[in-house]
Amino acid sequence: MKGVEFLVALLLLALASKLASASDPSPLQDFCVAVNDTKDGVFVNGKLCKDPKLAVPEDFFLAGLNIPGNTSNQVGSMVTQANVQQIPGLNTLGISLVRIDYAPYGGLNPPHTHPRATEILVVVEGTLYVGFVTSNQENRLFTKVLYPGDVFVFPVGLIHFQFNIGNTNAVAFAALSSQNPGVITIANTVFGSDPAINPDVLAKAFQLDENIVKQLQSRFWWDNN
Ligand SMILES: *[C@@H]1O[C@H](CO)[C@@H](O)[C@H](O)[C@H]1NC(C)=O
Ligand SMILES: *[C@@H]1O[C@H](CO)[C@@H](O)[C@H](O)[C@H]1NC(C)=O
Repeated sequence: MKGVEFLVALLLLALASKLASASDPSPLQDFCVAVNDTKDGVFVNGKLCKDPKLAVPEDFFLAGLNIPGNTSNQVGSMVTQANVQQIPGLNTLGISLVRIDYAPYGGLNPPHTHPRATEILVVVEGTLYVGFVTSNQENRLFTKVLYPGDVFVFPVGLIHFQFNIGNTNAVAFAALSSQNPGVITIANTVFGSDPAINPDVLAKAFQLDENIVKQLQSRFWWDNN
């Protein structure tokens, strides 16, 4: 009896840890093309998927990543997405892609995190100063200057950035280990939230005068995604 209770407790613990881990699901079948309504859909693995017999090559296809993003904006960069929103065939597969364009000297993909994905980036044009910072209490900065062909990894959840330090446009492509990686741009979330965070909170957290906080909160925070 004691042994059985122990086993049950162990099983419950294993189940709880399984439920608490939130990663992209395992597909359980070749693919699960996402559909919006139940017509022609089947439930597999908890998701509504297109009936596999109705899947077509276009479900796995996206054109246009050869087209440069428009970098005429306040940060001088643009991210073009190729995730499950654009490619329904990525559903349950745990992977996606972006193209990132940077304006000549100063084009910035500002400090941000992907809550659900590690990123691996390759530069195809230009020169980028890139970096990420480890979590508390170390907060160590890892940086590198990247040239065409160079690859860099941004571990899941860590704050990272890319900055064009060359005099030409820069272009990079990055793969992310989620069909829906999510983006949290630090400045936008902290100073551009809707509604605004109480300025006392931000004044204390960032060691800033409350007027400076209010100034920052009144700014427009461009989303380059
Ligand atoms: C699902 O709905 C979204 C938002 O309305 C739309 O952009 C997308 O094209 C739809 N996808 C499919 C496969 O119908
Ligand atoms: C790029 O964006 C700017 C600002 O929105 C706009 O004025 C310009 O026409 C755009 N350029 C292209 C090529 O779309």
